[in-house]
Amino acid sequence: MSSNSKIGILFGQENTFPQAFVDRVNEKQSQFLAEFVSIDQVEQSVPTDYAVIIDRISQDVPFYKAFLKNAALTGTAVVNNPFWWSADEKFFNNALAVQLGVPVPKTILLPSKDQPDDTSHNSFRNLKHMNWDGIFNHIGFPAFMKPHSGGGWKSVYKVDNPDQMFRAYDETGQLVMLYQEAIDFTDYVRCYCIGGKDVLIMPYEPRNPHHLRYASELKVTGDAGKKLLATIKDYVLKLNHGLGYDFNTVEFAVRDGIPIAIDFCNPAPDADVHSVGQANFDWVVEAAANMAIDRAKKARKGQDNLTWGTFVRNSVASQAPAPEKEAKAPKAEKELTSEKAPKAEKVKEDAKAEKPKKSKK
Ligand SMILES: Nc1ncnc2c1ncn2[C@@H]1O[C@H](COP(=O)(O)OP(=O)(O)O)[C@@H](O)[C@H]1O
Ligand SMILES: [Mg+2]
Repeated sequence: MSSNSKIGILFGQENTFPQAFVDRVNEKQSQFLAEFVSIDQVEQSVPTDYAVIIDRISQDVPFYKAFLKNAALTGTAVVNNPFWWSADEKFFNNALAVQLGVPVPKTILLPSKDQPDDTSHNSFRNLKHMNWDGIFNHIGFPAFMKPHSGGGWKSVYKVDNPDQMFRAYDETGQLVMLYQEAIDFTDYVRCYCIGGKDVLIMPYEPRNPHHLRYASELKVTGDAGKKLLATIKDYVLKLNHGLGYDFNTVEFAVRDGIPIAIDFCNPAPDADVHSVGQANFDWVVEAAANMAIDRAKKARKGQDNLTWGTFVRNSVASQAPAPEKEAKAPKAEKELTSEKAPKAEKVKEDAKAEKPKKSKK
């Protein structure tokens, strides 16, 4: 088979989504054979057989991330963009959300409690002492502390006072942490966004045990409910267009009728039928199959077929030289080519791993 003619899925421990995705793509068309990605020898600048690869695992396997960048350079549309995914993290996401006009909790970035390997106190000479009183006053209590880059509810803490916060911080080692306002919510939703256009809003109750989190309904109903859903959809699209994700989930906590984005850096979101439920699963399989087929059809051989968010596109565009009036010189090639106080609550880990336009100020 010639290069770039298949649709592949690269995955780890998950068992239900990959096979359902492959089966659905093959049911829907026969131009691009869908299969589990098969990797043999990875050689620089040698194209793969895949027009599209859905990546569900490279966050845990650096070898795959390097393989995918090479694949992207040689024409494969990798979902999600491996370059952007490597660069992105939750603190940047929050900052971008502010600029996009999407509400997020008040958030501060904390330096890691422990020094990274091979550094000394000299490596931190640019860093002033933390003004903890100022931070506690600004964020308030309760507060959440969680890794700036992470997922699966790992090392997520809810703290009620400074003492709990410091004890939790002591446990975080070399992790860079976000410290943020806890949103006391009436509704909570988790939303898939696929292909930058298909949005599924799933009521979600994070306080339920894992297997019952999706067994939830929106409390707000009627016109207020419709308006809320429309706002959520708008925010989901704004965030994913800004960041450039093809396959992502966004969580919102709703406070006083306002959806506040909590977690929207999930480029390999849980899509297991046993956790999301059959109806949500079927939606994801269908939307992912449609997106992959569409991307395979649009892929241009040997070119960059990745999605880049408006943040990156606008940054690059703003640096492009102004177009020359007369093309006398040969044109540049365009191609790129404790004490006894209760301990902080460590939120239970999930079973699954998982520029914008300048906004109005
Ligand atoms: N600021 C917050 N306010 C209220 N709940 C939060 C907040 N941050 C996190 N949570 C709760 O903790 C859970 C895990 O945090 P999240 O940011 O989603 O991390 P992860 O990427 O590990 O899933 C969320 O699903 C939510 O229930
Ligand atoms: Mg989450």
